Amino acid sequence: MCLLTTGQAVPTPSHTDTLLDSLYPQLGQPGLNVLHYDVRLDIPQPGTPGLRSAVTVLARADTDLTSVQLDYAGPQIRSASWNGAPVPFHRDDSTDKLIIEWPLKRGERATITVTSEGEPAGKPDPTLPMSLGWHSVPATSTQPGANFAFSEPDGTHTFLPCNDHPSDPATFTTHLTVPQGVTAAASGQLQRDQLNPDGTHTVTYALTTPVPTYALSVHVGQLDHVRRPDLTSGSRVIERHDYFPSSVPADIRAPYDRTDQMLRVLTDWFGPYPFQTYGSAVVTSDLPALETATLSTMPVRSSQVRVIVHELAHQWFGNAVPLADWSDTWLNEGFATYAELLWAEAEGEDPTALVSRWRSQLQRGTRPLIATTQAQMFDASAYARGALALHALRTHSGDQAFRAFLHEYTRTRAARPTRTADLFALTRQRLGPDASALLHRWVQDPNLPASP
Ligand code: TRP
Ligand code: ZN
Repeated sequence: MCLLTTGQAVPTPSHTDTLLDSLYPQLGQPGLNVLHYDVRLDIPQPGTPGLRSAVTVLARADTDLTSVQLDYAGPQIRSASWNGAPVPFHRDDSTDKLIIEWPLKRGERATITVTSEGEPAGKPDPTLPMSLGWHSVPATSTQPGANFAFSEPDGTHTFLPCNDHPSDPATFTTHLTVPQGVTAAASGQLQRDQLNPDGTHTVTYALTTPVPTYALSVHVGQLDHVRRPDLTSGSRVIERHDYFPSSVPADIRAPYDRTDQMLRVLTDWFGPYPFQTYGSAVVTSDLPALETATLSTMPVRSSQVRVIVHELAHQWFGNAVPLADWSDTWLNEGFATYAELLWAEAEGEDPTALVSRWRSQLQRGTRPLIATTQAQMFDASAYARGALALHALRTHSGDQAFRAFLHEYTRTRAARPTRTADLFALTRQRLGPDASALLHRWVQDPNLPASP
């Protein structure tokens, strides 16, 4: 609403009326559709936060926009241009927006380039004592410095201007400039590694399948690059690359040897792996693991088979199939957690152990699956109850129908913002009204339904 001088309140027209997200009302610009990000990051001294960036956003308007409002809470902006010409802009620090003062009509496209330089501050996660955004791992006597991105849910805009909401997934080209001898990796496939006259080198990665902004993977440091044999999955060839800080010992690295087998098992259940490359980058920081696209971010503590399977599963559920709203995180976490059971079964372990473990995790309380607060987004219900709901659906429908259903879900929802209602629609269509009613109880009941 805006207040006229008469004191009369009138509704403000256009996009301010609608919000993209129920839990993060400030994120994203409704009507803005980013197709591609070209991200250049200069990291002159890995292990320190200093960053120079140039981000080119290729965007299209789905509705008439009077200005383009990107999410941004990063270092000082040096310049902004629109289709190559300088463009006026300002920042609104109360909403973390970078406002590019130029209209974009419905159906039109623009190429917006923003350069910045400074030290990204990161933002506190609402539930865990950790920071989201650009991370630095300072050098120690035994370990050179490193940097990486850890952004879910909304940390990416602390270092890059972007439409920072999963309902607007995009493709990425990432160019990382680092000192000689420093390894740099990002989401997608390696395109080039070029030496620069000043002795630095610029490594370019291309990700040609759209993913949410939080899933952008960036890792630089003294990393051992382990290239594994390509994997064929149906008609596709998947490259395999893992990265380990040189200080990380062999026993931490060992479980990653199982990744190829995990890809086979999960491809069988979920359908073709959605990208052309996969691997893990291990970090020495104390954080949860994160399913960054094509290159998961794996803390040393999370270097266990169960967690590696979980993050791999997110490549289908969360990265290829994006959320439409943050209240539906159970769609990501439930499927990724359920993948742990599918893997255990394939390994000949007793899956009922996991089912009882999940039920016991919910002993202290549970909730309907659609989150109503930010604090619920990554709670035990999103993970354990979400997984139990899928187990109930599978048990009710049988393995063959459930597998076909999963294949169809990943195929039809790829790059399409997805809600619980979309899962219901497919459940009813493919598994029938009884299955849909069952899922409904698991999603809606305030109490925990009985497990089959
Ligand atoms: N999605 C991550 C996983 O389960 C975990 C995660 C990301 C997380 N961001 C978070 C957990 C913030 C708690 C708070 O693989
Ligand atoms: Zn997860």
